[in-house]
Amino acid sequence: MASKTTRAVGVDIGGTGIKGGIVDLAKGELVSERIKVATPKGAKPSDVLSAVKEVVGTLEVGDDDGMPLGVAFPAIVKRGRTLSAANVSEEWIDFEAEKFFEDGLGRAIHFANDADVAGVAEVRYGAARGKDGLVMLTTLGTGIGTAMIYDGMLVPNSELGHLQRAGHKRDAEWYAASSAMEREQLSWKKWAVRLQWYYEYLELLFSPDLFVVGGGVSKNADDFLPLLDLRTPVIPAVHRNNAGIIGAAALAAD
Ligand code: BGC
Repeated sequence: MASKTTRAVGVDIGGTGIKGGIVDLAKGELVSERIKVATPKGAKPSDVLSAVKEVVGTLEVGDDDGMPLGVAFPAIVKRGRTLSAANVSEEWIDFEAEKFFEDGLGRAIHFANDADVAGVAEVRYGAARGKDGLVMLTTLGTGIGTAMIYDGMLVPNSELGHLQRAGHKRDAEWYAASSAMEREQLSWKKWAVRLQWYYEYLELLFSPDLFVVGGGVSKNADDFLPLLDLRTPVIPAVHRNNAGIIGAAALAAD
């Protein structure tokens, strides 16, 4: 049955901030203020729950107004369970996250991976709108998040930020996320060499039709995307800061 839901709430849990807003699902736009609180130090489940409560409370959405609530998180999320913890507290490994939040918030929620929801936001309402075939969204931030969407259908939980580099201990995100550029104070040109390796590798493995590059650094796309030489078209994400909120809301309403 088609859903009559026209608005939903999205909350995006990140390494530094927890952001939320009410989303118009026809337009894929925020129709409320964007609320942001700092991610509690250590990002333990109970502290994160309190912060999410604050965000949802500030948005003043009650349980009775029928708005779905989607929550995005930087880990593998399988049937509501978080299975990994690359840049968050280890307490999230093998944790019933969705149930924990539902109990804590006293309402139904939909819990999903942060890159997956950002991919959904870009395919439904952004840079990859109307694109058929395989769209690969990568978010370049503290880690590298990836979303694979084929003909509009999300293939959840691709974790391609953790591809290994032959002969190296550390994974792709350690080498090529935007945090690597900051950590090692790389120039755009030096960082682009690493991105070239990464996107070429994805190209070899998946032959995608389009790369969409998200994460905060995508606002500087002009500084590094022209330095890449790929067979696949590569374009910046449109929603950047709000992709997690919009995509989490959209998936919760599905
Ligand atoms: C995590 C992914 C997440 C990405 C971006 C990675 O370290 O393993 O689940 O999507 O960071 O936050």
